Amino acid sequence: MPAPPPDARSFLSEVVSVTPCGADGVLLALRPERALGAVRASRFFMLRREDGLSPAIPRPFSIYRQSGDSIEFLLKVMGRGTRALAACSPGQKVRTIGPLGNGWPALDGDGPPWVMLAGGVGVAPFHMAIEQALAGMDGRAPARPEQLFFLFGAANAGMLYDLAAFERLPARVFTATVDGSHGARGNVLELLSDLQRRGVIPQRVRLAACGPERMLEAVQHFADERGLECWLSLESLMGCGVGICNACPVPTKPDGPRGSWPNVKCCVEGPVFKSDEIALHA
Ligand SMILES: Cc1cc2nc3c(=O)[nH]c(=O)nc-3n(C[C@H](O)[C@H](O)[C@H](O)COP(=O)(O)OP(=O)(O)OC[C@H]3O[C@@H](n4cnc5c(N)ncnc54)[C@H](O)[C@@H]3O)c2cc1C
Ligand code: FES
Repeated sequence: MPAPPPDARSFLSEVVSVTPCGADGVLLALRPERALGAVRASRFFMLRREDGLSPAIPRPFSIYRQSGDSIEFLLKVMGRGTRALAACSPGQKVRTIGPLGNGWPALDGDGPPWVMLAGGVGVAPFHMAIEQALAGMDGRAPARPEQLFFLFGAANAGMLYDLAAFERLPARVFTATVDGSHGARGNVLELLSDLQRRGVIPQRVRLAACGPERMLEAVQHFADERGLECWLSLESLMGCGVGICNACPVPTKPDGPRGSWPNVKCCVEGPVFKSDEIALHA
């Protein structure tokens, strides 16, 4: 498969720092060689070390934070690509392609509260999402802190990556772990149901979720059953990231707004989809 062609979105960045995060993650801070405008949360970049130690095909990562002239990524070490990036030293060069994809819609304050559901490293697109929701986007009313519920779930406490940074944000943060090592025991949907049962979170909410595909299937099912507005940020396998290789098809709902075509490309038409556009669960 050919590497993506060099274009205006392809540039080099210098590694500023690599900091361990949680049980198996790192925070990778990069300084792009040219200025980037403000990036929308849940847009992503393809990253690859420039010294040949990464696989030829760069890997996609959501932007985690942006400040001054640097951008930061939160990586869970999975295989060769993430191992190589996690082993970078300051000063090394990283091929950086982006920003790509669409990003979250405006998480505005004009409507029911937002419940953000993150599973494991699916937390990455939410730090800036919360900041941007509070600042207001696209000319829409900013969300107020009490309209933002952030529910962070993981297998165990070590995979609640950078939880302290989220707890510093003015949103209401709750956690769930499958082994019960932090917060409620169980998954984020069980946590949401419990918080709704106890009246902490209202029944009428809007959902934004990112995490493993099985979690997103369950969130879609939850939203469908209750008729809730729901946005899903997918972490599909990708090849080029720019729409040329067809490695990232996502099935559409035949009767949904994108149903005239059987698949959409996650990289260019996503990674964020409205739940009624795509068919994750049978
Ligand atoms: C839009 C987008 C945003 C993403 N954002 C982040 C992020 O912020 N932080 C982060 O850590 N990861 C993120 N990912 C996932 C990340 O791209 C993969 O973990 C990475 O490509 C793995 O590369 P690797 O070479 O280390 O592993 P590989 O050697 O390619 O794979 C190792 C193992 O992980 C599995 N795997 C690889 N990619 C995925 C995936 N996407 N979903 C499920 N299983 C997978 C493989 O099947 C294999 O079993 C994102 C993916 C997408 C599409
Ligand atoms: S990753 Fe190549 S078309 Fe989407």
